[in-house]
Amino acid sequence: MVQQQPLLEGRNVTKYFGGLAAVHHVDFAVYPGEIVGLVGPNGSGKTTLFNCLSRILPINEGEIYFKGKNITHAKPYQVAHMGLARTFQVIRVYRKMTVLQNMLISRQWRGEGILKMLRPSSKATHERARQLLDFLLLGHLMHEPAGHLSGGQRRLLEIGMALMPDPDIILLDEATSGINPTLIETIKDRIRQLNRQEGKTFLLIEHNIDFISDLCSRVYVLDFGEKLAEGTPEEIKNNPAVIEAYFGAE
Ligand SMILES: Nc1ncnc2c1ncn2[C@@H]1O[C@H](COP(=O)(O)OP(=O)(O)O)[C@@H](O)[C@H]1O
Ligand SMILES: [Mg+2]
Repeated sequence: MVQQQPLLEGRNVTKYFGGLAAVHHVDFAVYPGEIVGLVGPNGSGKTTLFNCLSRILPINEGEIYFKGKNITHAKPYQVAHMGLARTFQVIRVYRKMTVLQNMLISRQWRGEGILKMLRPSSKATHERARQLLDFLLLGHLMHEPAGHLSGGQRRLLEIGMALMPDPDIILLDEATSGINPTLIETIKDRIRQLNRQEGKTFLLIEHNIDFISDLCSRVYVLDFGEKLAEGTPEEIKNNPAVIEAYFGAE
């Protein structure tokens, strides 16, 4: 196997909240073009790890590398500009603004020059927003307030907003939670297309194990902030320690 440089890598990533180690000595690597799953029981540190990777939270120990560059102390806008995007477990859209306006205010497309970025929204940005909304089956809702969308449509919008700057890796935090099976299939299909046709890399926090099995080549399992296991979805499903972590305490 050719040894590639990871796109995103964590070494010994550790984050404490007071005395609680929310993420503890976690090592992982995501390679270009992969779709990797991040699973674990509630409270196991998945969202905290995303917050560390997107640089919203400082870490106490360890290092984070993106495209071979040490981003451990980078600012969130810097890693966003380098091509890392993420969505939030609790959907963050501006409900009173239209769907299109939400797309336009999300971070400007990296393909534009710095001068164009100073304009509120250029023609190219508009065009990209419309194309992405069509791709996400939201084109007909472009002028609706985002608050009128269903939960699943808001998830799609949030994914669209994350895609606006044309990132290389997209971190999705529970993109399928609380949404209907048809839209889950849509999200799955769009992730696959973005991956296969545009080479986008994904790191997915998911509780839906079928979704993980269908999309991911590899999965990391967190439990109490520690890496409990890693492997293919099949290996993870049959791993006794993972089964114990999910069902043992009941
Ligand atoms: N901002 C915070 N301040 C204090 N504790 C937090 C904070 N965010 C998360 N935690 C705690 O860190 C642990 C991991 O939480 P989280 O990363 O949200 O888990 P997951 O996303 O896997 O459900 C939990 O015990 C949670 O209560
Ligand atoms: Mg979470």
